[in-house]
Amino acid sequence: MNAPESVEIIKQHLIDPEICIRCNTCEETCPIDAITHDERNYVVKADVCNGCMACIAPCPTGAIDNWRHVLKAEAYGIDEQLTWDELPAQNTTAAAFPEPPGAAAEAEADDEIVASDMVRGASVPPWSAAKPYVNLYTHQSPTTATVVGNYRLTDASVESDIHHIVLDFGAMPFPVLEGQSIGILPPGTSADGKPHHARQYSIASPRDGERPRYNNVSLTVKRVTHDHGGNPTDGVCSNYLCNLKKGDTVTVIGPFGTTFLMPNHPNSHLLMICTGTGSAPMRAMTEYRRRRRLKGATGKLMLFFGARTKEELPYFGPLTNLPKDFIDTNLAFSRTAEMPKRYVQDAMRERAGDLAQLLRDDNTYLYVCGLKGMEDGVLQALQEIAGADGLDWAELWARLKREGRLHFETY
Ligand code: A2P
Repeated sequence: MNAPESVEIIKQHLIDPEICIRCNTCEETCPIDAITHDERNYVVKADVCNGCMACIAPCPTGAIDNWRHVLKAEAYGIDEQLTWDELPAQNTTAAAFPEPPGAAAEAEADDEIVASDMVRGASVPPWSAAKPYVNLYTHQSPTTATVVGNYRLTDASVESDIHHIVLDFGAMPFPVLEGQSIGILPPGTSADGKPHHARQYSIASPRDGERPRYNNVSLTVKRVTHDHGGNPTDGVCSNYLCNLKKGDTVTVIGPFGTTFLMPNHPNSHLLMICTGTGSAPMRAMTEYRRRRRLKGATGKLMLFFGARTKEELPYFGPLTNLPKDFIDTNLAFSRTAEMPKRYVQDAMRERAGDLAQLLRDDNTYLYVCGLKGMEDGVLQALQEIAGADGLDWAELWARLKREGRLHFETY
């Protein structure tokens, strides 16, 4: 009887600043622009977020999945959230009020429809993927790795400077799966005097190490020399990494990623589509399959890989040396002199018959990694290829997502 008359409790969506690696995935995913950020934090606007959950699964760290019961009138504003170094504790007064009956179940049912419709890829891993470890090392308690290799992958004649960097964790456990990523904390501070946030890089080596049974991982890092607008700038972390020498140490957090993982059953087919440094997870998955080539396994590997020229394609030599009966490699070059511009989706259309056959197979798993702009083109090509073969693309697309068989990692 003593409760205030109009007490409205909301379940406020918050992002944990201690875990968040500022990768922008949530902001890109949110269909209603409820997420924003500054130099320091990613935050959720309480008055815009409708709890659709579209951002939850794509987050590689789980920092996005935090909720507090608050009085609606006292919801944390974005100005306040932007100053946080850690999440506030649950307010016990608000937590004492129950959610309206049925609200949770309704929200869950809505989530399933809304989230799966809005996200382009799967929010679940393949059914046979191994269980990944995540967030073993955080901003607050990172680990250290030693550089044991750093060499340029792209031809010396081209501007694009892509490096293969091998990091060894010594006696510190750092278990990873193909498709996962790690965070590097570059030394120094940003303009506001605070330490730089971590930068995320996909792991290019398989789970048993860059060198089998060594406790090391490799990364594929492109030296950033221009911003998105084409203006000259030195990328903080990429330049730091590309300049490292053997024996240097780096501060590492992670691993991250729970969905962009490879299936473990030997008859599964991998359809991999990438550009530039998006080849890192494809290299990891391909190398894992190569090392464990199982007798009698019927799983196929098909790769579509785009780069400006052959000289700018990372891992060109090793890739083209792989046996044809092991991997079906299709390269697309966009800036080779006197050759027409070719993108991965053009190469896919040329292989429409084989792709349609793979799309018809319930054991096919698709991975797309690289330039964000490629997503539309790849989906368009898949739709055309499926349609021309009499497949219902809308139905197939929804099923691929539901079954953890279509994964995007673009930037
Ligand atoms: P382009 O010559 O048009 O830049 P980058 O070298 O910048 O990492 O790009 C890798 C490759 O991806 C290049 O061949 C680039 O071609 C190509 N690319 C650029 N935009 C798209 C797109 N929308 N779809 C597919 N490939 C693309």
